[in-house]
Amino acid sequence: MAEEQRKPKRSKDSVANTLIVSIGISLVASVMVAGTAIALKPVQERNEERFRQQIILDVAGLYEPGADIGELFTRIDTRFIDLDSGSYVDGIDEDEFDAELAARDAETGIAIPPGADVANLRRRARLAPVYLVRDNEVLEQIILPVYGPGLWSTMRGFLAVNPDGNTVRGLRFYEHAETPGLGDQIDKPAWRSQWAGKQLFGDDDQPQIDVIKGFVDVNSAGAIHQVDGLAGATLTGRGVANLIRYWTGPNAFGPYLALRRTEAASDD
Ligand SMILES: Cc1cc2nc3c(=O)[nH]c(=O)nc-3n(C[C@H](O)[C@H](O)[C@H](O)COP(=O)(O)O)c2cc1C
Repeated sequence: MAEEQRKPKRSKDSVANTLIVSIGISLVASVMVAGTAIALKPVQERNEERFRQQIILDVAGLYEPGADIGELFTRIDTRFIDLDSGSYVDGIDEDEFDAELAARDAETGIAIPPGADVANLRRRARLAPVYLVRDNEVLEQIILPVYGPGLWSTMRGFLAVNPDGNTVRGLRFYEHAETPGLGDQIDKPAWRSQWAGKQLFGDDDQPQIDVIKGFVDVNSAGAIHQVDGLAGATLTGRGVANLIRYWTGPNAFGPYLALRRTEAASDD
């Protein structure tokens, strides 16, 4: 009788057991993955910050392979400017500021008027960081963050300008997904080296930079504003020209750069 009342044993291979074990393993695995992601987030953020600093140092010509990036970066003073007025704004936490996030927010960003939106960005932040490189208190160069669409991707980089607010020192992109061998020539030293010495503005104070199709005729009047086209990647090159013209133009860093040009003219 007792034998008959004993509950039948559940087979180890039953559907219920299989489900319990697989759900258990999934739970443990997801907790481990989520825990690792949370634990590694600060490391990832620090590495991203170091990488950004390295690119800024590189475009400024201050990067030394193997040197401590944080130490080298102490030569650079990060300031924020109000893009509309071009004047400096204090009290902004650099670590908390994300220009593209700020652009999307109704309070911290504004819509770019369609006529001014040469890089097709639609919105921009009200504020932007600038990185000032000084040598013994003397301003040597100004580094501006720039971004805009290429053919396949948003290209993000830094433009280094002399304190005259007009002469380019260098251009360096640190993030894009243009095609290797085509659009990614924007990263190659041969193409990048052409930017040093180019003038951003014409006599009319309007941005004149252009990435032309083919090669620059060095004897032409416009050569001082022009860079060679990218073979097989005209659209990426056009994207670079558009984003530089936008960010140096009146809706972006234009007022700030105009103040630097006025200052430089009065120093002469
Ligand atoms: C697989 C593939 C990848 C391409 N990648 C790029 C690119 O990264 N940038 C670009 O401007 N054009 C790229 N192109 C070429 C463009 O589609 C377009 O043909 C070109 O920009 C036209 O101008 P061009 O040939 O005079 O430079 C690519 C084309 C193909 C088929």
